[in-house]
Amino acid sequence: MGEKNITLVITGSIAAVKSYDLIQQLQAKGIGVSVVLTDSAQQWITPDAAKVLTALPVITSSEIRAQPDQLKQLLAKSDAIVAAPASADFIKQLVYNDSELAKAINNCQKPVAVAPAMNVMMWQHPATQRNSKKLLSQGVQILGPVLGKMACGDEGYGRFMEPSDIAPALESLLAGKSHPAFELVNKSFSPKPALPAIDVSLAAKKSKKLLLMIQGGKDALATYALISSLRSRGYQVTCATGDEATKLLPAEGLATISGCTAYNRHYQDDVQGMEHIRLPEQSDIVLITPATCDGVKEMAEGGAQSFLGCAYLATKKPVVLVPSTDIEKQPNAADLERIRQDGVNILTVPKQLHPASKERADAIADGIDELIKQQTLERKIHGN
Ligand SMILES: Cc1cc2nc3c(=O)[nH]c(=O)nc-3n(C[C@H](O)[C@H](O)[C@H](O)COP(=O)(O)O)c2cc1C
Repeated sequence: MGEKNITLVITGSIAAVKSYDLIQQLQAKGIGVSVVLTDSAQQWITPDAAKVLTALPVITSSEIRAQPDQLKQLLAKSDAIVAAPASADFIKQLVYNDSELAKAINNCQKPVAVAPAMNVMMWQHPATQRNSKKLLSQGVQILGPVLGKMACGDEGYGRFMEPSDIAPALESLLAGKSHPAFELVNKSFSPKPALPAIDVSLAAKKSKKLLLMIQGGKDALATYALISSLRSRGYQVTCATGDEATKLLPAEGLATISGCTAYNRHYQDDVQGMEHIRLPEQSDIVLITPATCDGVKEMAEGGAQSFLGCAYLATKKPVVLVPSTDIEKQPNAADLERIRQDGVNILTVPKQLHPASKERADAIADGIDELIKQQTLERKIHGN
């Protein structure tokens, strides 16, 4: 080990490819670097590759799950911990203390820094901003994100701070000193984060592009009928299923009924795997139905472990959500209220309608049309 040692946690962002550079920059300053790799980070960096660069331990998430003490010992020997790149989901894990890795970091009583890297919409999402501000209030230092172009092609705050800027800031952290790079995060916060309202011009649009995000439970069985109902009203429907819904609704079936490719965690047609950004971007409106207890909790907390959670964080389009009526999958009222305050339109349909019925599907499609009309009316009344 060097004079000072840092544990570098690499999480599931495409900016993980810059970790090699960061490790070298830290080593050049005489800082020893141990690495923790989350499962998602291994899309870009393998444990063997990290071992080639560091003469120190490399621990993966699966090793942490099997032997949590190994991580605790590593953190005890480290002088500071930095998550770089830190994904939106990892920031959420730290705030909610809901993974072995996050628990060990939160308990280790060492200085902690995170360097976020994500799409600008994910960073500006009210849930991510809430989580980042919470970390700041807990004494976690945040490095970036900085303004610039991201891997998905978007521009804005979300870009990973350059390793050559991160390394000196970490050197200061290890010396117990402040550094101007730790102030930059305040510039990147949106003044008033909220999801966009339904666009008034939507009502007049002949073909509206709708992204249908489907979570699990009995209500998902109304999906085929819902797609038909939406299509008959002029919506072009692209489907994306969460893991539970994928067990009930095969992508082939959804594609046949919708006439568009259907997506899930296992089926993506973008070589970069950027569907979680691209799908909401290409739609006029996002409809989430059924929305389950776990799904709404993830949305309220700003988590992105699931494919749909990720797409929700990345959306800059209006979101309408129909809570599940399935008794075991019904969302928690506090979580629903939180996402409503974040700008999600909550649409409820009569509970007595059979989950798989055409009536239920029509009620949802009517509800969407009604919401769009209402918004247009409200804007006219308020003169904007
Ligand atoms: C191609 C691809 C690129 C991604 N890039 C990012 C990113 O830059 N930032 C981010 O927060 N999430 C990104 N994600 C999503 C995360 O990998 C996902 O939320 C994951 O569950 C994070 O897990 P972890 O924080 O435990 O590593 C990306 C996903 C894919 C498939």
